[in-house]
Amino acid sequence: MIDLFTPLTLGKTSLPNRILMAPLTRCRADADHVPTAMMAEYYAQRASAGLLIAEATMISEGNSAFWREPGIYSEAQINAWRSVTDAVHAKGGRIFLQIWHGGRACHPALNDGATPVAPSAIAIAIDDTVHTPEGKLPYAVPRALELSEIPSIVEAFRQAALNAIAAGFDGVEIHGANGYLLDQFLRSSSNQRSDHYGGTLENRARLMFEVIAAVTAAIGSERTGLRLSPLNSFNSMLDDDPIQLMQYLASELNRFELAYLHLMRADFAGIQQADVVSVTREHYQGTLIGNMGYSFDEACAAVASGQLDAVAFGSAYIANPDLVERFANQQPLAQPDAATFYTQDVKGYTDYPSLA
Ligand SMILES: Cc1cc2nc3c(=O)[nH]c(=O)nc-3n(C[C@H](O)[C@H](O)[C@H](O)COP(=O)(O)O)c2cc1C
Repeated sequence: MIDLFTPLTLGKTSLPNRILMAPLTRCRADADHVPTAMMAEYYAQRASAGLLIAEATMISEGNSAFWREPGIYSEAQINAWRSVTDAVHAKGGRIFLQIWHGGRACHPALNDGATPVAPSAIAIAIDDTVHTPEGKLPYAVPRALELSEIPSIVEAFRQAALNAIAAGFDGVEIHGANGYLLDQFLRSSSNQRSDHYGGTLENRARLMFEVIAAVTAAIGSERTGLRLSPLNSFNSMLDDDPIQLMQYLASELNRFELAYLHLMRADFAGIQQADVVSVTREHYQGTLIGNMGYSFDEACAAVASGQLDAVAFGSAYIANPDLVERFANQQPLAQPDAATFYTQDVKGYTDYPSLA
């Protein structure tokens, strides 16, 4: 029987188990968005995961949505990421990079006053705030991208994927989830365009498919994954029909033969509810990774039944660098401290011990 300890091949990458580390923004890069030495230690500590999916990383300058998140657009960043991938590979691990454009979640206070871009000029709800050097601020009203600007977004994703491979990553995960730019185009609440990037499902998905086509052409589909969150209302997102959205995307994605599709099955706030996993499994023929709120037992059952091929764990990986070994030996899990999720030093980052 297949379980979480059964090896799995994702494209060109052979995984010794099906316990993956979900991408986790931790804001430990420097002020120029260059990865730091503590990031190499952090990822190397977690190298026994079947696959590490490194945190959301800016594809281009001027699109910061957190404080001190990393980028993959400068020579210094590529070199610093090389130290991270070397450290992970030296420990026998595998690592993809999540490549990301924050869209309307970017903030002028983080980007020299620049107005963020989005499909439409609709802001994230003002009762949500973003952490900036000037304290917590409400989100800004973005400006709608001009049609003529869209090719530069596609190109930035393509170049970021090439940079990630140059930095030694085994592949990239395109961030199509959680209310960031590609998801803002996908879902109806944030996309009110009347050109061929808005309106119908096909139009709303167009930018994401252009990005996938460009990235897979540059680095190979077997090194490209995609993350989606059709239900997540985080960042003021909603969709009129998440099931229809997922059915359409799952069917259309088959032609790319990606390394994997990474599906967040739920909504952080519990506002939108639907069984998006079943509809995806029914229509998607490739490798499917599930995430969000899985216990070890539920993850085992999902993999054993064939509903999922692997499961990514997010918060559990923050406090348990040896999550694979703890699961294997039925040892208790440590609880993460949310107060240090986005702080800037080793406390709550590299100081969670392994049991062994
Ligand atoms: C501190 C923190 C940072 C996160 N950063 C990212 C990110 O960079 N990219 C992303 O796609 N999801 C991000 N997420 C979502 C997680 O990848 C994951 O989907 C979420 O924690 C639910 O999985 P879990 O129930 O196993 O924790 C983040 C979550 C947390 C708690």
